[in-house]
Amino acid sequence: MRKNIAAGNWKMNLSFDEGKALAEGVQSTFVDNVLTILGVPYPYLVSANKICEGNDSVAIAAQNMHHMEKGAYTGEVSPSMLTSIGIHYVILGHSERREYQKEDNQLLKQKVDLALAHHLTPIFCCGESLDIRKSGNHISHVSNQLSESLFHLAAADFAKLIIAYEPIWAIGTGETASPAQAQEMHAALRAHIAGHYDDQIAQGCSILYGGSVKPANAKELFGQTDVDGGLVGGASLKTDDFNQIRKSF
Ligand code: PGA
Repeated sequence: MRKNIAAGNWKMNLSFDEGKALAEGVQSTFVDNVLTILGVPYPYLVSANKICEGNDSVAIAAQNMHHMEKGAYTGEVSPSMLTSIGIHYVILGHSERREYQKEDNQLLKQKVDLALAHHLTPIFCCGESLDIRKSGNHISHVSNQLSESLFHLAAADFAKLIIAYEPIWAIGTGETASPAQAQEMHAALRAHIAGHYDDQIAQGCSILYGGSVKPANAKELFGQTDVDGGLVGGASLKTDDFNQIRKSF
């Protein structure tokens, strides 16, 4: 059985105190049978992790990490820095990083390898632009993102990943993929994974949907057969909204 996962991505938002209140408000609201992950900015990782200490159902994620072990990379954060403060999850390949930091499938392949080598669980983001969706090539485009960054992995390593499908045209736009559009892509990705690995690996893989998930649409999206939860941006910044989303399975 795949896990239900509600992941929040705070991006570059909230003051320290606002983040603290939000993490406390999430942590103190127990939701049965759902793994909650909070993707918080680097300076808040230690405190957020402390707030959630001892709570098995809420974990903290970094929003990125560098693709090298260590060295002269001013301003960067390494995987071992994350593990040294007790972080177990890292968001990789978010479309905003692909766009603004020019992260491509090859670089993400390196990051995925390094994260796994450090026993970090990558939340690997993929998704197509509006142009690609309109051209009708969205499924092959997103499948290719998986092939190029992930399919070199041995099955046992691939099984450790969480995948987040986030159509770029639905991120922060208020426009959500319809449940049918999300289901179509998630089922296609699962079939793609089964084709490369096997059905057992594909059925065990958690695939989250991201892109304007909110309390009003979470239930229907999460109710789709191949949608195992959400990666939530804007609505994860409000305690009540995010807690409602966590209860939408
Ligand atoms: P959104 O962001 O929920 O604000 O659309 C989702 C994401 O970028 O992870």
